[in-house]
Amino acid sequence: MAHQLLKGKRGIIFGALDPNSIAWITAERVHEEGGTFVLTNAPIAMRMGAIDELAKKTGAQVIPADATSLEDLQNLVDQSVEILGGKLDFVLHSIGMSVNVRKGRAYTDQNYDWTQKGTDVSAMSFHKVMQILYKSDAMNEWGSIVALSYIAAQRVFPDYNDMADNKAYLESIARSFGYFFGRDKKVRVNTISQSPTPTTAGKGVKGFDGFIAYAEKMSPLGNATALDCANYTITLFSDLTMRVTLQNLYNDGGFSNMGVSDAIMEKFVEE
Ligand SMILES: NC(=O)c1ccc[n+]([C@@H]2O[C@H](COP(=O)([O-])OP(=O)(O)OC[C@H]3O[C@@H](n4cnc5c(N)ncnc54)[C@H](O)[C@@H]3O)[C@@H](O)[C@H]2O)c1
Repeated sequence: MAHQLLKGKRGIIFGALDPNSIAWITAERVHEEGGTFVLTNAPIAMRMGAIDELAKKTGAQVIPADATSLEDLQNLVDQSVEILGGKLDFVLHSIGMSVNVRKGRAYTDQNYDWTQKGTDVSAMSFHKVMQILYKSDAMNEWGSIVALSYIAAQRVFPDYNDMADNKAYLESIARSFGYFFGRDKKVRVNTISQSPTPTTAGKGVKGFDGFIAYAEKMSPLGNATALDCANYTITLFSDLTMRVTLQNLYNDGGFSNMGVSDAIMEKFVEE
């Protein structure tokens, strides 16, 4: 289902770890739509080797960068512009990690060094990426920057832990930086709030099987898949959404506006 919506467009895709990653599937779709890009991930993620397979398949080069390091990010942006032969049209930030979640620390018992690390990786990195793109004047006019979020930024999902706060911060950065990027460079900035999706990051959250099943039954269209998310991102990178900016856009089968569904009620009503 390719429409060449991204023909001639250049960009950077962060966060493809393995074939389940939302960024991986997005890279495949961007390639099908005619876009060219550089793939990047944390140096430690590179060692698993899978990203080279994606690079080969999509004709992309890989540049390692820890998204918390300004030096790595500057090098990534400079090299990408050179490799791709011009300024960028799209950037996908598909990065998330909480040490408290990984190590099973409860929200009420945070190790704040870990909290800070998670905030830096999951939210502040988005500011860092944009600040470097902005100061380097590396984006073309009418370019598009997208980061991925989750509804725990607005509603309580206890096991999402400190990632909920990180997502609230991420969404706020999209609005705040999006203002300056729009005013000064005519670049749009949005977040997509995605359904629970079975990826390495997703499955790391305690009780994931329960809340993916719950969201599936609560959403009139069912959970949005990683491919659905990739397709939505394509529209945001394309010229069909040129004045959509500063938004947190739900790609969740309708979950965010639901109170209760028949399927959930059935589980509680006694015959
Ligand atoms: N899976 C879900 O249920 C779900 C739902 C909503 C939003 N999201 C968001 O989607 C995004 C992508 O996650 P995913 O579900 O595809 O999982 P994933 O585990 O495949 O991707 C997360 C990526 O973050 C990268 N990363 C971690 N630390 C980094 C660092 N310091 N520098 C650079 N990269 C780093 C990892 O290497 C990995 O590639 C995340 O922001 C996540 O929070 C996921």
